[in-house]
Amino acid sequence: MKNSALPIFPFLLCLLSFSMFGQADTPLEKKMDQMKKAYKELSKSIEKPVESEKMRYQKLAEELRDLMKESGKLSPQKTEMIPADQRGAFIEGYQKAINQSVATLEALIQAIQTSNWSEAQKLMALLKQHQKEGHQEYRAERP
Ligand code: HEM
Repeated sequence: MKNSALPIFPFLLCLLSFSMFGQADTPLEKKMDQMKKAYKELSKSIEKPVESEKMRYQKLAEELRDLMKESGKLSPQKTEMIPADQRGAFIEGYQKAINQSVATLEALIQAIQTSNWSEAQKLMALLKQHQKEGHQEYRAERP
């Protein structure tokens, strides 16, 4: 009976090593993942906005803005791959791009507050563009 527990040990070992080495989530990736959740919910809502849901949209947009601001204080993994003499410019460019998205989110909050839905839709599209360009420029290539 004692031996029946033995096969479970390799399994537990695998599970442990996966939890230690398998998830390479950096603090920035964690913020980005949180943003993805809020962004998805908001962009779906803004496609067909409902006046009575305004407060929920505003909260999501504020959450996104705060996460974006916090992301600006972290540095991308790719930084390590940039030659030392270009690193400063790389970080500066990254922070500038993040600040642009923060400004877009501030404008989005305004548009939601004033029920300017067509403007809110435009700003969501702009944010998507920022995401695409930001990832192209600052996210490390995946193997
Ligand atoms: C609403 C806008 C955005 C969303 C929803 C978003 C979402 C995500 C998600 C889900 C990841 C992790 C998974 C993956 O690598 O695909 C990620 C990674 C990353 N994103 Fe974004 N992103 C947004 C905007 C931006 C912007 C504007 C920038 C840069 C200016 C940026 C820079 C990065 C970087 C550098 C990583 C890699 C993480 C690391 O290096 O540790 N993202 N993003």
